Amino acid sequence: MKRELIQTADGSSTISIPDAGVTYHSIHGAIRESMHVFIEAGLRHFIRLHHTPGTVRIFEMGFGTGLNALLSLIEAGVARQAVIYETVEAYPLEEKIYSSLNYCEQLQRPELLPVFQQMHTCTWNQLIELTPWFSFRKWNTPLAHFSIAQPAHLIYYDAFAPGAQPELWTEAVFQQLNGMMKPGGILTTYCSKGDVRRAMMAAGLLDCKAVSNISADYSTANPKLGSVIPPYNSQLDPYSQSYFQFFGLSKTLERTGQVN
Ligand SMILES: C[S@@+](CC[C@H](N)C(=O)[O-])C[C@H]1O[C@@H](n2cnc3c(N)ncnc32)[C@H](O)[C@@H]1O
Repeated sequence: MKRELIQTADGSSTISIPDAGVTYHSIHGAIRESMHVFIEAGLRHFIRLHHTPGTVRIFEMGFGTGLNALLSLIEAGVARQAVIYETVEAYPLEEKIYSSLNYCEQLQRPELLPVFQQMHTCTWNQLIELTPWFSFRKWNTPLAHFSIAQPAHLIYYDAFAPGAQPELWTEAVFQQLNGMMKPGGILTTYCSKGDVRRAMMAAGLLDCKAVSNISADYSTANPKLGSVIPPYNSQLDPYSQSYFQFFGLSKTLERTGQVN
């Protein structure tokens, strides 16, 4: 499999696999896409929703360049939010490629280069503390063979697009992911195609745990830029906790199928 380093429109690098016709990120901007889909609609959204959530467990499908992990490490420090980040990667990058990625430079965080390199060079399957806010573990295994020890609050689903890897966008896969999440967890992905949404819905993701409000504008303009943003769930909002403790309310929620 031949992989090539290319530059995207925001100046950040990504990787192209010409034979498969895929890139690791949107050619319109790797950093821009990851910030929008995974940090804004994922980690920031989760922290806003839960206010002080304790340690946030993130599971990423497809470590690849490590861009999502690097941006999450930065965000964890800015938000002073403890994060445990677990990721699987079936086809790790060669050193020649990962050492040429320009993310630390583009983000104007050259001091993070050793930590970014460490993400790529560290031992598989071992949890390491990369910063006081961010612990990291990567697994060299395909998603299908992976089982998570502790369910995640957040899943970054970053497989190649359904056209290239249809087997990774099926109802069965979303069922596996659903089982890897805590109740109230959030799944974010860049893909908002209709049949992917239906597969998510059939696996129970749209209605209960995770995802609904998909930005249709992005899905028609450029699917690589689309994101899946979870709906507001008042039952998880700490400010409405007292309302949900009213006598008899739990029975009403149960009767009307609204228990999360
Ligand atoms: C779209 S790329 C995204 C990578 C990464 N999140 C990034 O920001 O660079 C998809 C990644 O998933 C990996 N991958 C593909 N199939 C996989 C599988 N079945 N299990 C685990 N990883 C897989 C690829 O090698 C690639 O690194």
